[in-house]
Amino acid sequence: MSCRICKPRGGGRGYINLFGKIGYCNNFIKSNFHNFIDVNRKNFTTGNLKSNDAKDEASFTITSDTIRIDGQSFPVDDFTNVTPNILSKIKRQLHLHQSHPISILRNLIETQLNDFRHFNSFSPIVSTRQNFDDLGFPIDHVGRNKTDSYYINRSVMLRTHTSAHQLQILSAGENKFLVSADVYRRDEIDSNHYPVFHQMEGVQVFDVAEAKEQVSCDITKIGQFNSACVLISNEADTDTSTNNQKNPIQFCHPVEAANSVGLHLKHTLNELVKRLFKDEKELKVRWIDAYFPFTSPSWEMEVLYQGKWLEICGCGVILQDLMNKAVRPNEIGWAFGLGLERIAMVLFDIPDIRLFWSNDPRFLDQFTTNEIKKFKPFSKYPASTRDISFWVDNNKGFHENNFCELVRSIAGDLVEDAKMIDEFVHPISKRRSLCYRIIYRSMDRNVTNEEINQIQLDVQKEVQTQLGVILR
Ligand code: DAH
Repeated sequence: MSCRICKPRGGGRGYINLFGKIGYCNNFIKSNFHNFIDVNRKNFTTGNLKSNDAKDEASFTITSDTIRIDGQSFPVDDFTNVTPNILSKIKRQLHLHQSHPISILRNLIETQLNDFRHFNSFSPIVSTRQNFDDLGFPIDHVGRNKTDSYYINRSVMLRTHTSAHQLQILSAGENKFLVSADVYRRDEIDSNHYPVFHQMEGVQVFDVAEAKEQVSCDITKIGQFNSACVLISNEADTDTSTNNQKNPIQFCHPVEAANSVGLHLKHTLNELVKRLFKDEKELKVRWIDAYFPFTSPSWEMEVLYQGKWLEICGCGVILQDLMNKAVRPNEIGWAFGLGLERIAMVLFDIPDIRLFWSNDPRFLDQFTTNEIKKFKPFSKYPASTRDISFWVDNNKGFHENNFCELVRSIAGDLVEDAKMIDEFVHPISKRRSLCYRIIYRSMDRNVTNEEINQIQLDVQKEVQTQLGVILR
């Protein structure tokens, strides 16, 4: 989760993408998905989520000047880039479907942190102010790019993280709370990335003057769970006991109070993770230093799963500026954001993030409220692979997220993976050529060649019109 919310590391333009991949903040293309809506949807799109459950349905209408979602109207502008595909997801709320793995996990964490108040039904439609400005995101932060986030218009968007609700809840005077919700990000396509996923935000606040005492008392109360299976290492540049210039304690905080709060945060999360993963064999967990615009110091927690370090949590000591905005100048707090899919994939052994969205009873019927059961894979339907090669106009810019979004908007959940497999620059014209391999597969049925051919034809047509590339 450091991703685009995290600042570029090492001073370069590279940043750590949502779950640990390096991405680049390219220029994003001028043609936008406003065009996409107009051209592709003939100026008028209505939608209803295909689902068994009527209460899951979001109804929306997109015209060239207005988006209506469940009776609310928003003017369209040059920032609009939400698609029917993405709007069809906003009522699913997997975290509230009792026997769904995401909800089971939410419940488990809420039970562990049982004296936290929970908020589970905030609308995903937030202002850019809530999502970015309130949290101190710089104006040029990559997360604000249209290539990375879903905008309804310049000032309204689909939240990219549950932190968007921190200020409103802190301002209401809450001291200990959890927020679980669906969050939306434009991203690459593979088994770990889906444009909608779920996060749980946790916040706890202390009086600055009493922080040290409150923390030591609380840490004793939380106790230490003995787990021989979960090995936690602290690879953060320092632990919370000394001030670290790269990951500093805020100058306005008394060092002792800030250290105590950092310690409390790490203890809370270590204990949570040990209890959640108690049945895993030798699970490795590590702490590393991080950066978020709204915390300092900041850390990330990662787990080693199938040979890869997966980021499961970003956290830190809340910027005092945010506490002051909430009119709580004499208090100090910590906050974390957990990636629920990431944790559920490990706990339930779920190999592909798309499975969470499946309505296939062979998936859904495997899970029972309050129980962690390993997923028993059912036979996979065959994949159908297509390559697409094109010349990129150097002046127009090309962003992989725009390409992936376009493929998703045409193929929906039939697209499993889209990877660049070849790139070269023509020695004379200096034009760049890219080749992407797209893997199509359904989670719950056989796809036909004709159907995939048609999708591929649509993809070819739309990448030319929307992204201004030239097919090879
Ligand atoms: N909102 C961050 C993200 O989605 C995660 C996060 C980091 C949440 C630090 C926090 C925090 O509450 O303190 O990448």
